[in-house]
Amino acid sequence: TTKLRVLSGIQPTGDSFHLGNYLGAVRQWVALQDTHETYYCVVDLHAITVEQDPKVLRHRTRLSAAQLLALGVDPDRSALFVQSHVPEHAQLGWVLECQTGFGEASRMTQFKDKASKQGTDRASVGLFTYPVLQAADILLYQANAVPVGEDQRQHLELTRDLAQRFNKRLGKTFTVPEPYIVKGTAKIYDLQDPTSKMSKSASTGNGLIELLEDPKRSAKKIRSAVTDTGREVVFDAENKAGVANLLTIYSALTSRTIAELEAAYEGKGYGDLKKDLAEVLVDFVTPFQAQVQSYMDDVAELDKVLARGAERAREVASRTLAAAYDRIGF
Ligand code: ADP
Ligand code: NA
Repeated sequence: TTKLRVLSGIQPTGDSFHLGNYLGAVRQWVALQDTHETYYCVVDLHAITVEQDPKVLRHRTRLSAAQLLALGVDPDRSALFVQSHVPEHAQLGWVLECQTGFGEASRMTQFKDKASKQGTDRASVGLFTYPVLQAADILLYQANAVPVGEDQRQHLELTRDLAQRFNKRLGKTFTVPEPYIVKGTAKIYDLQDPTSKMSKSASTGNGLIELLEDPKRSAKKIRSAVTDTGREVVFDAENKAGVANLLTIYSALTSRTIAELEAAYEGKGYGDLKKDLAEVLVDFVTPFQAQVQSYMDDVAELDKVLARGAERAREVASRTLAAAYDRIGF
């Protein structure tokens, strides 16, 4: 096939995806299936850079896969797999670690941020080399494009540097990937603090919509979202960040444009907007939750789907690793 390849991963570090994960990432994964050859993985190797309870990790890995399936990742069109099921990730990771300068790795700002939270002494070496493993994830599939948010740009730069360095030193082995900013990718903000991003780690309580929480709870969070003292429903990210966020979510969950929504709410108030959006959200998460439940009710079948995905991924990954090993002299 001549389709460009895409690789992306999501960490199994929580029980539920949140609305930002879906509207800012997974929805694009689903759309890319129409145009690209897609490889999507649940990155459990990355998850263990911080301590994990084994039972919880296993459960969350399956639950992440179930959520991806329920959101529209199609295992017939995408290779959907668990990272640890494809040992080539760790194998290429080591090779690339040996090509990465210590200083170069030290400059990764995400490590600095995360390590400073735990204390540098307690942070694992795995957390330090995390961006190099991420490079391996991408290069193994000869991915042309990687859907990335702003926060991941520096890691993709490292991936590109490592690919170019290896190719130059040892001969052309890896495709050098480009960042892929998918059109229509929404950035979702905290419902209680609409100037900061909705995030599993930073948002608390009513600011965060978890897709697996009780839909009634989500509806209540929407209805009590922070807005401003005005009354006109117009999109103004600077002066009406809360309303703008609600319109972004509304537009993303329906096929209605922001302009259509503004027109529809002319003469109405924030209360009407919130009430309707709460309903839209409930109508979205209710069947989603039922589907996730049905995947989790048949774990044996889910594991089969993931095993097939891993097999497909390994067809490509093993070829790349063999080429890299050969270049190195193994
Ligand atoms: P979190 O920031 O909650 O820890 P992750 O870092 O695990 O979430 O993000 C997983 C994916 O979801 C990434 O592709 C990230 O860019 C996307 N994402 C996370 N939060 C948001 C958000 N508020 N708006 C848009 N995309 C988001
Ligand atoms: Na994050």
